[in-house]
Amino acid sequence: MKKIVIINGANLNLLGKREPDIYGKKSFEDYFEELKATFSKVKLEYFQSNSEGEIIDKIQEVGFDCDGIVINAGAYTHTSIAIADAIKSVSAPTVEVHISNVHKRDEFRHHSYLSAVCKGVVLGFGLQSYELAIRGLL
Ligand code: DQA
Repeated sequence: MKKIVIINGANLNLLGKREPDIYGKKSFEDYFEELKATFSKVKLEYFQSNSEGEIIDKIQEVGFDCDGIVINAGAYTHTSIAIADAIKSVSAPTVEVHISNVHKRDEFRHHSYLSAVCKGVVLGFGLQSYELAIRGLL
């Protein structure tokens, strides 16, 4: 069974409550149940942290023995060379995901430190971006 790990970063624990006009009204926990039903033949794992170091620890922990990582690092996308280095260090292919189309938003969201070290990027499709990223990895 293939194993894919979803990693959400800063403030994504507030999905459903946080800026619902941008990020929607559904919690990630509810969406994750839907994802597990959609990909019933895949072992999906989910981890969220607001802390950059914990995200790096998770990438190091799973990145050598899973079949892929889907990461939405939140605002760390635009600031974290350390998360980019962690992605580069592990063997699992990683897909960067964003719920919103960051290129339509503030200019500081247009640059990602992660894109260049990821296999691909999916953004702008709401929560469905995660499903598309998993399909890409599979
Ligand atoms: C986000 C976009 C980021 O710019 C922002 O900081 C987030 C969420 C998205 O999924 O659209 O926290 O990654």
